[in-house]
Amino acid sequence: MSRAADGRRVVVTGAGGFIGHHLVRRLKAQGAWVRGVDVKRPQFEASPADDFQLLDLREFENCRAAVAEVDEVYQLAADMGGIGYITKVHASLTRNNALINAHMLEASRLAAVQRYLYTSSACVYPSHLQEDEAVAPLREEDAIPADPEKGYGWEKLFSEQLTAYFHEAYGLDTRIVRFHNIYGPLGSYEGGREKAPAAICRKVAEVEDGGTIEVWGDGNQTRSFCYVDDCVEGILRIADSGYSEPLNLGTDELVTVDQLATTASGVAGKKIRLHHELDQPQGVRGRNSDNSLLQKITGWQPTTPLREGMHQTYQWVWHQLAAEDRAKPPAPAPQILMARAAHA
Ligand SMILES: NC(=O)c1ccc[n+]([C@@H]2O[C@H](COP(=O)([O-])OP(=O)(O)OC[C@H]3O[C@@H](n4cnc5c(N)ncnc54)[C@H](O)[C@@H]3O)[C@@H](O)[C@H]2O)c1
Repeated sequence: MSRAADGRRVVVTGAGGFIGHHLVRRLKAQGAWVRGVDVKRPQFEASPADDFQLLDLREFENCRAAVAEVDEVYQLAADMGGIGYITKVHASLTRNNALINAHMLEASRLAAVQRYLYTSSACVYPSHLQEDEAVAPLREEDAIPADPEKGYGWEKLFSEQLTAYFHEAYGLDTRIVRFHNIYGPLGSYEGGREKAPAAICRKVAEVEDGGTIEVWGDGNQTRSFCYVDDCVEGILRIADSGYSEPLNLGTDELVTVDQLATTASGVAGKKIRLHHELDQPQGVRGRNSDNSLLQKITGWQPTTPLREGMHQTYQWVWHQLAAEDRAKPPAPAPQILMARAAHA
């Protein structure tokens, strides 16, 4: 376990988003004083942050307000979404995120914060290492020489470098975390910004037993997925690690997108047929995460197998849709939800 946070004053930017909201919950449970900052409030439940400020972090003065009188910064704010979204908006997304990250670093330096954690992405890795389904897990040093994902990935890699320069030049105590496909309850499941696990849960929840759902691509593209509780534990361990170089945070449980859909239909208790939408974007062919450096430095290990994490996610999505009369039976088993709630 990471150390107790009592007495710390922290800001979580992107606290209205998926991972940021979970991180605020965990930091509050540890006893930290937490400020959440975002352009929007969390969509599905109120933030437990002590102070929640609606600020556009593309503006430098708003970044200064965000980091005022805090010890630690967790920078999760970003214009982002699933593959369908990030491949459509390269110019605006890259500009938005570059502004947020440059201003947040400078504001944090001026405020002399004790620690700054930047959240990067597996999208920094070169495309040519991800052309096969049976892909080798990506190691941190594979990112350079660079050939990242257009737009979103280039900006993440640039902001990693900028974060490292602030460490070198000004002694800012920085961390860089590369997330690999984080999923779980309280994430977007529709509207265009949702990721594959939540999108598949929504499709399975909305279809009758025996029905058909659409899967983007031919279904053989591979990924690994990391449950959000494991992700938050990893963030806190990395924050405490004293390690300033980039670290992967993901799992190496590699599955095809078809297997992800089959896992969702399995936890749903439905027999589902898959229809492949070949003209939809599907990203790189294969991507997996080598987490050995993270494990060596922090002792972190993922504790939630994909099937269990998808069960939690499916239950949550199903109940969201059921409240709008959109979910089709059977209802997922409630005792699993209660077991997880006991840990929260
Ligand atoms: N979820 C993943 O699988 C994943 C993978 C790789 C990297 N990441 C990174 O992790 C971080 C958190 O991701 P998430 O999944 O919680 O995404 P999210 O979209 O749920 O959260 C990001 C939040 O940033 C906020 N934001 C956007 N522009 C802003 C602005 N100008 N000012 C203030 N807030 C702004 C959004 O409103 C949103 O609530 C992001 O930096 C993201 O790029 C996530």
